[in-house]
Amino acid sequence: MIQAGSQGTSGPRYLLLKATALYLPVRDDSVSLVIATPPDFGSKRFGKAGFCTTNPQEYQQLLEKALAECVRIVEPHGRILVLRRGGKNNSNKVIDVYKKRLRGRRCVQRIRSESFHVHYVNVQSFHWQALPVSFYRILIHRYSAPGQYVTHVFSGSGNSGIAAMQLARTPILIDLHYQRQTQARLNRKLYSLK
Ligand SMILES: C[S@@+](CC[C@H](N)C(=O)[O-])C[C@H]1O[C@@H](n2cnc3c(N)ncnc32)[C@H](O)[C@@H]1O
Repeated sequence: MIQAGSQGTSGPRYLLLKATALYLPVRDDSVSLVIATPPDFGSKRFGKAGFCTTNPQEYQQLLEKALAECVRIVEPHGRILVLRRGGKNNSNKVIDVYKKRLRGRRCVQRIRSESFHVHYVNVQSFHWQALPVSFYRILIHRYSAPGQYVTHVFSGSGNSGIAAMQLARTPILIDLHYQRQTQARLNRKLYSLK
C-alpha cells in the first residue's frame, strides 16, 4: 500500500491510498460514510490494469468482497453508498444506500435506492470520463456532516475528494491506480479553497 496526502493546520485535508478494494487499509468502524463506484463488468475503457474482468464470477466476488470491506470500515449506523453498475450510456444512475447495524447476523441493511440524472464529465489527465463533482457533493452533503471522514473506494479521478474538501469533510480515496494525477488535482483544488 502506498499513501499520499496533504496535512492542514487542523489535521489531514485528504488521504490517497493505493490499495485493492478487496483489502482496505482502514481500521474497523472508523469512517462515517463510504462511497463505492465499482468499474463496469467487462469494460474495456480502463484496460486490464483497471480490473474490469470479463469473468462474471470474478466480478461478482470483487463486488461482494468490496462491499464486505466497506461494511467493516464504516462506523455503526454509518452509511455505505454503492453505485449500481449496468446501463451503459444511461444517464440515470442508481445509488443503493446501506446502513450498518450494531449487531445481528446480517449487520448491513439496504435502506433505500436513489436515482439521479447525471452525465459523466471529462477530467484533465484522465483518458476516461468521471462522475461530476456536483454529483458527489449531493451525496456527501446528504449522508455526512462537516469534519467527518468520507471514504471513496474505486475513487478514480478524485472528483469525490474535491467535493468532500469543498464541504469541509476529510476524504480518504482508495484506488489501484491514478494517485499521481489525483494528487495533483487535489492539491490544485486545496490551493483554490484557501
Ligand atoms: C468506474 S472507475 C471509478 C471512477 C470514479 N467513480 C470517478 O468518478 O472518477 C473504477 C475505478 O476502479 C479502480 N479499480 C478497479 N479495480 C479495483 C480494485 N480491485 N481495487 C481498487 N480499485 C480498483 C480503477 O482503477 C478505476 O479508477
